[in-house]
Amino acid sequence: MNAELLFDAKATLGEGPAWDEKTQTLYWVDILEKRIYAGTEPLAQVDDFIGCLAPRKNGNLILGKRASFVDFDPASSRQTVLASLSESATNRVNDGKCDPAGRFIVGTMDMNEKDPAGSVYSFDGKSTRALFGGVTISNGMAWSPDHKMFYYIDTPTREVKAFDYDLSAGDLACSRIAFRVPESLGWPDGMTSDVEGNLWIALWGGARVTRWNPNTGRLLEQISVPALQPSSCVFGGRNRNELFVTSARKGMSAADLQTYPLSGGLFRVETKVEGMPTFEFGRNP
Ligand code: BGC
Ligand code: CA
Repeated sequence: MNAELLFDAKATLGEGPAWDEKTQTLYWVDILEKRIYAGTEPLAQVDDFIGCLAPRKNGNLILGKRASFVDFDPASSRQTVLASLSESATNRVNDGKCDPAGRFIVGTMDMNEKDPAGSVYSFDGKSTRALFGGVTISNGMAWSPDHKMFYYIDTPTREVKAFDYDLSAGDLACSRIAFRVPESLGWPDGMTSDVEGNLWIALWGGARVTRWNPNTGRLLEQISVPALQPSSCVFGGRNRNELFVTSARKGMSAADLQTYPLSGGLFRVETKVEGMPTFEFGRNP
């Protein structure tokens, strides 16, 4: 299977795709260009790096911006800071999304991509707490269909970790390695899950998205993406069977850009399986 181009965005670091069910809108960001997109349209140019975002019930978005969580009104572009993180000046927010109870779970990373100076936080609208630290490039997050498992990727480890997830308390327990992504496939980056409990992982440097069974570690499916650095993916569409894939041009050689001219684009592929939804920020029933 191949992903098709939806929008030749030429994003420097396309990331953070999130599907807003209410409005059937795909939001995503270009982190390094400090831009938010709604589908194929630039929605806002902002003042700092947005690593991730999530829809809210009232139509606004919550942004993971540099070292803060910010409410954003798409109609007016008005920003309201909800909470700030105490992170070093060389860190920024990277991947994040809401858990099924509506908490915003967000990871940070050192912008030099070398030091394990990042952490993963959980923000419930009132308080922020650190779930764990010591991560280098905090990336993919996904929940199992019964919400009892949380999967997590710190890219340079090549590991997909599994944790028991207590949804009512928002606590993690029993960290273990579910599987490792072989070097030949690329670096594991953004991740989502489907209703069968399998994981869809964008492989940075691998020009593909892959589907895995986290219980056996088996690679089930590969989808080619005509971009060298797919960064993340999310399910959307009326039947939630369209996988949207973001990608990045940053750091590519002239030769690689020639081989993959669509790098930085937004891609789409129809899947046989339905995906898990994008959870909204704010208490969910
Ligand atoms: C980060 C990039 C990083 C890439 C590959 C992305 O999620 O935003 O800075 O280069 O992952 O590890
Ligand atoms: Ca990512």
